Amino acid sequence: MLARSPLRLQLPDPGTTQRLATAFATLFEPGDTLLLEGSVGSGKTAFCRAFIQARLASAGRMEDVPSPTFTLVQTYDDGLCDIWHADLYRLLDPNEALELGLEEAFDDAICLVEWPDRLGDALPRGALHAHLEQGAEDDSRILTLRWDDAKWQKLASATAGLCQTGQIAQVGDD
Ligand SMILES: Nc1ncnc2c1ncn2[C@@H]1O[C@H](COP(=O)(O)OP(=O)(O)OP(=O)(O)O)[C@@H](O)[C@H]1O
Ligand SMILES: [Mg+2]
Repeated sequence: MLARSPLRLQLPDPGTTQRLATAFATLFEPGDTLLLEGSVGSGKTAFCRAFIQARLASAGRMEDVPSPTFTLVQTYDDGLCDIWHADLYRLLDPNEALELGLEEAFDDAICLVEWPDRLGDALPRGALHAHLEQGAEDDSRILTLRWDDAKWQKLASATAGLCQTGQIAQVGDD
């Protein structure tokens, strides 16, 4: 069962999304997976790009992070572990994910998965579930986070810290 009281965060502009993704990048460990849902253009790739670039920057690297729209998967190595960035929109069958090697990656890489619904029942256990949606303004988004694995409780503390410094706000706090 996923967390009953999900975290709902306001991301009023792309810079805030980038800051939150950068903060989250420090909290992920090998074997952690983010399943990122949301309609086309909701900001899934923008979030993943900032997350990956932050991890690479920690290793002193700068790389382009293109959307894996056509390749389905892009992989990176941040010196500590592999990072898999997948966009499964075009996946026709969950079995294709096996061919991509995603199952093994779930075990020991950091995986960021856009359109995870394409995996059907083959979702990894213990993943962080995120949903992005359009906010009230053109450039605003609302991010909802849910989890059932207690290890993600650290996100609540991290986001509380960002809320205290005014960098993000919980939905309903304005
Ligand atoms: N607050 C915001 N957070 C993230 N992106 C934003 C925000 N406001 C505007 N944007 C813009 O929305 C667009 C999001 O595009 P992005 O490719 O990340 O979407 P996506 O969810 O990955 O779509 P797709 O389903 O096609 O992969 C970008 O152009 C980004 O600059
Ligand atoms: Mg995308």
